[in-house]
Amino acid sequence: MTASDKAGLYRDLARQLASLIGSESDRTANAANMAALVYHGLPDLNWAGFYFTQGSELVLGPFQGQPACVRIAWGSGVCGAAAARGASVLVPDVHEFPGHIACDPVSQSELVVPLIEDGQVTGVLDLDSPRLNRFDAGDQAGCEHLVRMFLRR
Ligand code: SME
Repeated sequence: MTASDKAGLYRDLARQLASLIGSESDRTANAANMAALVYHGLPDLNWAGFYFTQGSELVLGPFQGQPACVRIAWGSGVCGAAAARGASVLVPDVHEFPGHIACDPVSQSELVVPLIEDGQVTGVLDLDSPRLNRFDAGDQAGCEHLVRMFLRR
């Protein structure tokens, strides 16, 4: 997929997300629809979903894909690293990420985008792929935009 095809795909997803969210303010409902939209709308994913911050842990939220680990300690794995850093983490090969948590052995690469509200990390959006090196800067920018839309509600 070219960079411009990818940008177009994320523009389409943003339009669809805006229409799915509409004036709905229920976070669980919007997270569930966003996980389904991303999972079915992006190629080569085996998992897409949310973890939300509870104290010093991330707790599983709405997702699509195989059942996943429920609690992740702050700083652990790719999700915990993105939460602790307050920045997206793009992992071309999960086997080379120290502490990667293998919820589904099929996963080969991963992108995690933190949810940041009033300077606090309130959760993360996590995408997993069965393909090595599946995610690039275009995916990171596209997902960060979708996350900003999600947080506006
Ligand atoms: N691989 C993640 C754990 C969550 S699952 O991929 C759904 C991690 O290392 O944080």
